[in-house]
Amino acid sequence: MTYETIQVQKITGGCGAEVLGIDLNVMSNRQWDEVQRAFVEHGVIFFRDQKLTPEQHIEFARRWAPIDVNRFFKAAPGYPEIAEVRKEPEQKTNIGGGWHTDHSYDQEPAMGSILLAREVPEEGGDTLFANMYRAFETLSPGLQRTLEGMRAVHGSAHIFGKGGVNDKNPEGASRYENHDKVGADVVHPVVIKHPLSGRKALYVNRAFTLRFDGWTAEDSKPLLDHLYQHAARPEFTCRFRWREGSIAFWDNRATWHYAANDYQGERRLMHRITVAGCALQAATA
Ligand code: SIN
Repeated sequence: MTYETIQVQKITGGCGAEVLGIDLNVMSNRQWDEVQRAFVEHGVIFFRDQKLTPEQHIEFARRWAPIDVNRFFKAAPGYPEIAEVRKEPEQKTNIGGGWHTDHSYDQEPAMGSILLAREVPEEGGDTLFANMYRAFETLSPGLQRTLEGMRAVHGSAHIFGKGGVNDKNPEGASRYENHDKVGADVVHPVVIKHPLSGRKALYVNRAFTLRFDGWTAEDSKPLLDHLYQHAARPEFTCRFRWREGSIAFWDNRATWHYAANDYQGERRLMHRITVAGCALQAATA
């Protein structure tokens, strides 16, 4: 794909691209069109050295879709639309430290998440991304056909609910709230037809997928584990090194992400806005 008003450089062969030559505060209409194309083409796009106030971050997010406020994350002071992704020097655990995709526990999962680095550690704190198109395309044809006919149950109670991982974590109280707002489990196709690209993507993730629909958790586990291992192959991933003012905008229907927790004793503060998506259709629908 060619771009005329921005430069788009792939990060790895597997996933993600950096968008250069743009100031998100003063985008032309043609640049905006091309940024949208780059997002659909690469699944996650990165920008450097952006000087966005919280208001400008919100304005940029609203260009994509209405904001889908995460009900569990504590907000940045004064900005209910912005979720704080914070780790203090004395904290040991981080947010997002395992492969996942945001909001798959919702009936209409968020389309994307726009993460802006406010304060980064000297070293470490990278975020990894994995390409769920490649994950699906590289499975054997027989398994692809089987998965295309399946659906999976997703939920958030074990992570965000009362007695869940975050409620039990003593560091969780400063980060999460609304443990009673988990809602009912939801069912999505295991292989979706991506709403923007029309491509087939694998749509299960280790954090929020509970089991295949009509299967027990025990029966589901071996196949889910196989898919998780396959989808995280290094060939499908990229790793982003943050600087203050860097932005990652990822598509939750086309990628997974993983926040590396390798910067003990330092602060990392990010602002995240999730933008609304839609109900997901099966690839075969
Ligand atoms: C997240 O999982 O949304 C946070 C990712 C990060 O902090 O790098």
